[in-house]
Parts: sequence; C-alpha cells; structure tokens
Amino acid sequence: MSKVALITGGAGIASGIGLATGQSLASKGWKIVIVDINPAGEKAAQDLGGVFHKTNVGDYDDLAQTFAKVWKEFGRLDFVFANAGIVEKAEFYKRYDSALPAPLDMTILDINLKSVIATSYLALHFFRKNKISGGSLIITSSCGGVYPIGYLPMYASAKHGCVGLTRSLAQTAYQAGIRVNCICPGSVSTGLLKQEEWEDFGKAEFTPIGKVVEAVEAFLEDETLYGMTAELIQDRRYFRPPPEHWDPVMKRVIERTQALSKI
Ligand SMILES: NC(=O)c1ccc[n+]([C@@H]2O[C@H](COP(=O)([O-])OP(=O)(O)OC[C@H]3O[C@@H](n4cnc5c(N)ncnc54)[C@H](O)[C@@H]3O)[C@@H](O)[C@H]2O)c1
Repeated sequence: MSKVALITGGAGIASGIGLATGQSLASKGWKIVIVDINPAGEKAAQDLGGVFHKTNVGDYDDLAQTFAKVWKEFGRLDFVFANAGIVEKAEFYKRYDSALPAPLDMTILDINLKSVIATSYLALHFFRKNKISGGSLIITSSCGGVYPIGYLPMYASAKHGCVGLTRSLAQTAYQAGIRVNCICPGSVSTGLLKQEEWEDFGKAEFTPIGKVVEAVEAFLEDETLYGMTAELIQDRRYFRPPPEHWDPVMKRVIERTQALSKI
C-alpha cells in the first residue's frame, strides 16, 4: 500500500510549498492528503489522486477530526508536514496618541505556532499507532525562525517557536521511531504574499520552490536525520543541528532533563 502524507497548508494557489511537495511525492507513488482552510485544496488533491479535508488548523477539534478521518480511511500515516501558515499583518510599531495602544492582533501565533504544536501532537499520536511505530514529522519554520526579523516580529517569534519545538521533540520522538525535522527557507515566491508585495524582498535572492521540496524529501529519505533545521537559501542547503553548549554545567542540566523525557 502507498505511503500516506498529510500536508497542512497544501492547497497553494498556483504554487505553494505544501502543494509542490504533494505534487512531487504523488509522482513517486505517495497518497497525499491535503489539509487546508482554502477550498482550492479540493481541486489540488484531485489532480494528485489524493484526498482533501477542508480544515482550520487553528481549531483543535477540527484538526483532530481530520486526523481521525485520515486514520480511518488509510490505517497508516507515514509523513505529516506541519506547513500551514499566514503572514503577519498587525502593525506592531504603530504609534498611538491615546493612553493605550489598540489591542494587538496575535492570530499569527494561533496559526503559525499553536496549530503547529497541535499538528505535531496529533502526528505523534497517530505515528505510534502505525503497525510499526514511526513516521516523519517535518515542520515549516523559516529563516525568521533562526534570525531576527524586525519587520515581522510576531512571525519570527512563531517561527523561532517552530525551531524550538523541532529540537525539543526530536530526541524523545526518536525513541518511538519518529523523526522530527524542520525547514527554514529564505523567501520563496508563493501565494503567501501578493506578487507585488514580493517585489520588496529582492527576487534575485529567492529560494526556488524545487529546492525546498528537495530538502523535505532529503529529510524523508535520510533516516539518520532528526532534530535538524534545513536552512535554505537560493540553491544552497545547510542542515544544522541544535546549538552547541557554551557551558559544561548547562550541558549536564539539559542532558538530565532530556533523560526525564519518555514517549
Ligand atoms: N513563501 C516564503 O517565502 C516562505 C518562507 C519561509 C517559510 N514559509 C512558510 O511556508 C509555509 C507555507 O507557505 P507558502 O509560502 O507555501 O504559502 P501558501 O500561501 O501557498 O501556503 C500556506 C497555506 O496555508 C493555508 N492556511 C492558512 N491558514 C490556515 C488555516 N487556519 N487552516 C488551514 N490552512 C491554512 C493557506 O490556505 C495556504 O494554502 C508557511 O508556514 C510559511 O510561513 C514561507
């Protein structure tokens, strides 16, 4: 039976990281499940011979029901791509003459971090139900998950959280045969922004979407990789492990807490 991939944010519009990954894996015989709030996912899944579940990843019950349906239909889950995301629109630096600023819209954290945590939680649950416990969880972070992005401070906070989640889950999940990794692309021309908005991002420095797909597939294929971030810029790829410890006592503290973590 085909391997099953559940891809959040896989609807794309004309392009998209989730959609491009689904297209590549479908051509290699995978069964693709697209999980997206955008009904365009229906047509995208049809084109791939896959399945679409219209789902708001920010709604835990909706997301959990989708996982349950996928499990009921296929009885296996090999790859979960926690990839759905939005871009920050709130004006963090806006000046107000009033005594207090307007409340800050932090929806971006619900979609770009909390829903990634929920997706990861559900992925670990179902991966352990596989006939042989295991699976591959890949999280879409960003270069904004590694470097400061003053222009998008909440986006960067959420994406740093994605890197922290990857690193924190990886060793523990590996005990159950589950590999957790994340991708950190630079700018990729997708429907995340309008074409005219991308103009400000220096198009010559963009990362081709095919290179992002190659990194995802490298994580799927290379069973030695877990807890890694793949920094992707133009056609270059850097697999980076968690940071080294500066201090031997800190190293012991971190190792001791890791030893407490069982799955
Ligand atoms: N394009 C870039 O430059 C870039 C760079 C680094 C990281 N990323 C990340 O890549 C991921 C994919 O983005 P993309 O660039 O392919 O753009 P995209 O717009 O094609 O993909 C995002 C998808 O997420 C879906 N989505 C948004 N909110 C959702 C919700 N509540 N529930 C379910 N689905 C939802 C959208 O409908 C869309 O299909 C995002 O997490 C984004 O932050 C993008």
